[in-house]
Amino acid sequence: MEEELVGIKNAAISFILECNSLEELEEVKLQFLGRSGKLTQAIKNIATVPLERRPEVGMLANEIKNIIEDTIEQKYQTLKSEHYKKRKSAIDVTKPGIKPEIGHIHPITHTILETIDIFKSIGFQVADGPEIETDYYNFEALNIPKDHPSRDTQQTLYLDTRESKVEPGEVILRTQTSNMQGRILEKMKPPMRVIVPGKVYRYEQTDASHGFEFWQLEGFAVDKNITMSDLFGTIDYFIKKFYGEDIKVKFVCHNFPFVEPGAEAYITCAVCKGKGCTFCKRSGWVEMLGAGMIHPNVLKTAKIDPNIWQGFAFGTGFSRMATLKYQMDDLRLLTNPDLRILEQF
Ligand code: DAH
Repeated sequence: MEEELVGIKNAAISFILECNSLEELEEVKLQFLGRSGKLTQAIKNIATVPLERRPEVGMLANEIKNIIEDTIEQKYQTLKSEHYKKRKSAIDVTKPGIKPEIGHIHPITHTILETIDIFKSIGFQVADGPEIETDYYNFEALNIPKDHPSRDTQQTLYLDTRESKVEPGEVILRTQTSNMQGRILEKMKPPMRVIVPGKVYRYEQTDASHGFEFWQLEGFAVDKNITMSDLFGTIDYFIKKFYGEDIKVKFVCHNFPFVEPGAEAYITCAVCKGKGCTFCKRSGWVEMLGAGMIHPNVLKTAKIDPNIWQGFAFGTGFSRMATLKYQMDDLRLLTNPDLRILEQF
């Protein structure tokens, strides 16, 4: 038994001295002192030694255990200081650090900020307004009386006013940022050039191209001698700045109650550059905005004389602008909180 113990001690010491790393040392420690380690097993076997010799063998085993533990500790200190020295020389202080993760600007916010920059550079002011709106500013002031059929296309969300003095149906969530036309025309004196980026709400079934809440851009200018060509020039300038010089704009006739004449603008599909793809339904064109010359009734309602002042107005959706710019095939991606989408911007 004593011979076995001495053999274990010698083996352990030579293994320990040969260790080149802290990991190796840890392994050797397990091999000898672990639960099923060689020395641990040998100590268990002391129970088989005749009683009278047991104290002597026990003392020897203890001594050997202490020697092995001390040798491990000494080796541990040496290896640790070597390891530290190596690490120190391995640090390259000129290497750039790891960048901490920071937030991303949402693609809609990108689109809004870029749009604001472009319009500001050509003299437009930026206005904001209420999302909870009256029927008057959302419709009536825009030449859309109560029974006007165009109301059917604006799936309106009505607020419950039963607890208040307000007539039912008079308070709504705005369906369009055009609501700000009446409010601003009433307050500001022409000439004026204004854009209104903002959120609007409609009672819509959500699908790849519809949402119940989305972002719109309204813009208008009122001055003397404003004509359709001012509108065309402004829109063309904006589209080219936003999507690129190779994008064309075409206008086709369209009716909106608050403009006369009215138009819809189509732009070259930015995905296929007009060649035809699934995004533009193979037409090469994408419908981008509604526009026209502000209807004289709208100006009159705001107490602006249409014989002196004229204006143009336009409206578009930021979601549409963003999906086309970033080539997303589903509007719902814009409200998806999945970081894998947002991290791409
Ligand atoms: N407000 C309209 C809509 O939500 C868009 C629009 C069309 C705005 C024509 C305009 C305009 O200013 O002139 O569908």
